[in-house]
Amino acid sequence: MAEIDWDRLFEAAQEARENAVAPYSHFRVGAAVLTADGQVYTGCNVEVSSYSLTLCAERVALFKALSEGARQFVAVAVVADAEQPTPPCGACRQVIWDFAREAQIGMRGESGQVKILRAEELFPEAFDQEFLPET
Ligand code: THU
Repeated sequence: MAEIDWDRLFEAAQEARENAVAPYSHFRVGAAVLTADGQVYTGCNVEVSSYSLTLCAERVALFKALSEGARQFVAVAVVADAEQPTPPCGACRQVIWDFAREAQIGMRGESGQVKILRAEELFPEAFDQEFLPET
């Protein structure tokens, strides 16, 4: 497996963050996911007036990739309007676990500080399809 070019991924996430639709929180987030075959898909947060319908950047990026047929992910990069690295929210952790548990999750703060975690570090004791009855 090729080395992950985190600089390139964080740049892509930063570019996507420019498109954030965040009129309520004013907190812009960008994400970029890298597939096993080297494709990059990006996303930004999209806020809705009925707040709970808001989608985070990570889920937008992953759903874009999934809807284009991508299934194998090696990295997820996240960049937000914050000095420190911003970790994915709980809902995004579940989605990352379901669809990209092999991926490394990288966060970069505006300070330049980078944190890289594995999915199981981010989401220990995960619920997933293993707990569902067989259909
Ligand atoms: N947000 C993300 O897009 N990703 C995260 O990992 C944390 C939170 C968004 C959701 C909402 O639009 C705003 O940040 C404030 O919570």
